[in-house]
Amino acid sequence: MRAQVVERLAHAGCVAAEEEAGELLAAAPSPEVIDGWVARREAGEPLAWITGRTTFCGAGLRIDPGVYPPRRQTEALAARAAALLPAGGRAADLCCGSGAIAVHVGSVVAGARVVAVDRDPTAVRCAQRNGVPACVGDVGGPLASAAFDVVTAVAPYVPTGRLAFLPRDVRAYEPLVALDGGDDGLDVVRRVITDAARILRTGGSLLLELGGDQFDPAAGALGAAGFAGIEAWTDDEGDLRGVVATRER
Ligand SMILES: C[S@@+](CC[C@H](N)C(=O)[O-])C[C@H]1O[C@@H](n2cnc3c(N)ncnc32)[C@H](O)[C@@H]1O
Repeated sequence: MRAQVVERLAHAGCVAAEEEAGELLAAAPSPEVIDGWVARREAGEPLAWITGRTTFCGAGLRIDPGVYPPRRQTEALAARAAALLPAGGRAADLCCGSGAIAVHVGSVVAGARVVAVDRDPTAVRCAQRNGVPACVGDVGGPLASAAFDVVTAVAPYVPTGRLAFLPRDVRAYEPLVALDGGDDGLDVVRRVITDAARILRTGGSLLLELGGDQFDPAAGALGAAGFAGIEAWTDDEGDLRGVVATRER
């Protein structure tokens, strides 16, 4: 059975066919569902929507169909956020999706109080099922001023003109509202920066996931909004993955 599943997934173009076959077989409630599950994966549906689960920062997470599955690259942002949040501190995860970042930060920082916001009610329900106090809202709109030590956001940041270059399965299945960041990819990110400047306490930290050549325009918006100590982090290939900044005024 396992060999057949691996072969079908590999034939369909899954780069991690062995690993995915293992996940499908482990999550299947009965052998009867396997054929249908493999067919869905062959058609390109995200693995996490089929199994209803993924792993983020080493912990299991529920992912409901329609909700953006968190990416491995985002674990670096979650780890940095957790390191910056003092014990008993307050964090807000904007554009929270499944609540992956909030779950991690809340689980590793003693006494942390983490809340989350997303405009998509399906994502908010998923985050709530993952144990995160989450609400439907636009960026940081529902949250109180100067209330937070750390704000995180993986907002949609793909420039509209680059959407066509995303993997076929992502384009076919994942919600556009989770991906499309407008002309330069920073439409929602700029609004996150504005709201973070309001809801962070002085000295609090904002962490944003970014990519490509977005550092300079994001740094400009951060500086204009009163942030200092603006620093990028990159992945092993040297590609931009995110920015951290401190609210100064
Ligand atoms: C790229 S996904 C990231 C989800 C999650 N943070 C993660 O890393 O898995 C972006 C999320 O932003 C949400 N979103 C898009 N525009 C928004 C807005 N104006 N206000 C709140 N959430 C928004 C989408 O619904 C989606 O869940």
